[in-house]
Amino acid sequence: ALRGVVALDGPSGTGKTTVARKLAAKLGAGYLDTGAMYRVVTLAVLRAGIDPTDSAAVAALAGDVRVGVGTDPEHPRAQLNGEDVGEEIRTERVNVAVSPVSAVPEVRRVLVAGQREIIESVLGSVGGIVVDGRDIGTVVAPGAPLKVFLTASAEVRAARRSAQDSAAGRDSTPEHARASVERRDQLDSTRAVSPMRAAEDAVVFDTSELSIEQVITALSELASRRG
Ligand code: C5P
Repeated sequence: ALRGVVALDGPSGTGKTTVARKLAAKLGAGYLDTGAMYRVVTLAVLRAGIDPTDSAAVAALAGDVRVGVGTDPEHPRAQLNGEDVGEEIRTERVNVAVSPVSAVPEVRRVLVAGQREIIESVLGSVGGIVVDGRDIGTVVAPGAPLKVFLTASAEVRAARRSAQDSAAGRDSTPEHARASVERRDQLDSTRAVSPMRAAEDAVVFDTSELSIEQVITALSELASRRG
């Protein structure tokens, strides 16, 4: 079984979340979806009627939101103040608002502290964890023995996101999905605090031409060598 942390970063549409969950299950490790945590805070912002670009109001709310996430890769769970919101955090309304909310330093301070606690707790019980995000290798767990940064071409990412949306019963076209993922990546990689980028010592892995299974096989080999 995996010991320690696998940091799995990269933009959306790279298959990152599916890979992270299946890899964790295969390695008998825990799983943490940090994107779900930013989505839960974003949902709280929207429900409170706060403008997601009003950083002061978002910062003021950040500490009052109780964010709950599961760490079992087979049963992902997301809660806002105890309420299950696993589906609601994937809606377009949240997709559009999540990047500005995630750019607020106070939101990141609160969530990164929570993420480190969860990681410590899972390391203490299960022993290993795969952490899915944008800044895991650079900020949340810079000491992780294995850091991976997944990429894929814009076309491939848009097509994957659109297929995911359709499978979940949400309206989507590849054109719309492409605009949406590109907009979010642009915001995520240019923000002042913890922009999305590969850590210097990350293995950068282009998944455009690979199946999910191929990516998982490659990563589990890397993990067994370095973990
Ligand atoms: O991974 P997912 O697409 O669910 O992430 C949603 C958003 O949360 C990202 O677009 C980004 O704005 C933010 N995020 C972040 N840092 C992380 C994980 C996600 O800023 N570690």
